Amino acid sequence: MSEVTAILRKFHGAAGEFVRLTAGEQPKLPELEKLGFVIESHPHLGHRLVKTPDRLLGEDLQARVQTRVIGSTILVFEETSSTNDVVLRMAGSGTQEGLAVFAESQTRGRGRRGRVWMSPKRKGLWFSVLLRPRIAPVALTRVTVAASVAVARALHQFAGVNARIKWPNDVTVGGRKLAGILTEMHGEADEIKFAILGIGIDMNCRQEELPEGIPATSLLIETGEAQDRAALAAVVLTALDDAYRLALENFDAVIEEWAQLCTTLGKQIAVTMGPRRIEGHAQALDGDGALLLRQDNGRIERIVGGDIVVEK
Ligand code: BTN
Repeated sequence: MSEVTAILRKFHGAAGEFVRLTAGEQPKLPELEKLGFVIESHPHLGHRLVKTPDRLLGEDLQARVQTRVIGSTILVFEETSSTNDVVLRMAGSGTQEGLAVFAESQTRGRGRRGRVWMSPKRKGLWFSVLLRPRIAPVALTRVTVAASVAVARALHQFAGVNARIKWPNDVTVGGRKLAGILTEMHGEADEIKFAILGIGIDMNCRQEELPEGIPATSLLIETGEAQDRAALAAVVLTALDDAYRLALENFDAVIEEWAQLCTTLGKQIAVTMGPRRIEGHAQALDGDGALLLRQDNGRIERIVGGDIVVEK
């Protein structure tokens, strides 16, 4: 752990109270102040963190999380094409699972099915995580489902919003999309070499910064105030760490929480997958995370991706 991370961990742990820094740590304070941290120093009481900057910093995020896997290394780029691409470039060389790459903005952020994902500078969390799950490729949907549960739970815990999941992996508030997840797998038909979990959360976007054509929202719009991005990043990474473990070890527990959060379950829906369209009743998730759709003729169809419209 770097000295800066150690200092920030003390500050965050003290939640605004004074802390004592070692003689070795104190010379690092001007560096933090230059980055926008406001620190009050007192001759007897020590130092306390008064304000944090609205910017994501790897050492700061690292100081805020104590996770098992997710966020083992955290990098932040000022701008990149897509954080999924950065992780892809770094994944080959034996990089440890859990690497999380954030960007303050993306020039070519992408969503599912090749859609553009708008990623305006410092307005949200745009990040990707490298995973090496030892499961069959067909079961990778479990990880995406678990991630959607984690993001919804983190948003509720952090900002009190009623975040729900629209299958397969949109996180919505009041029926409007607030976050999206893009999982990309690399490997063979029978083996996952690695997967990249890309997550976008619209935090401080104003309405005009959100995509047109779909009902979208942000935490700013939902809560009426700008939100602390680094603080939410830590809550999301921690929730993802728990959810990832459950996805691999006890997926039934994930299904249970997902069922409470999912707005699609129990509804009559139409799913489009390229040229194919199927209608049916969204009945349940199976053990791999696929949606089981009961058609009018009683046939059960397993669906692993697609766009849905809720019919009634
Ligand atoms: C979707 O809802 O279609 C998925 C959106 C995923 C967006 C995130 S932002 C970070 C990561 N980098 C990307 O280019 N996409 C994902």
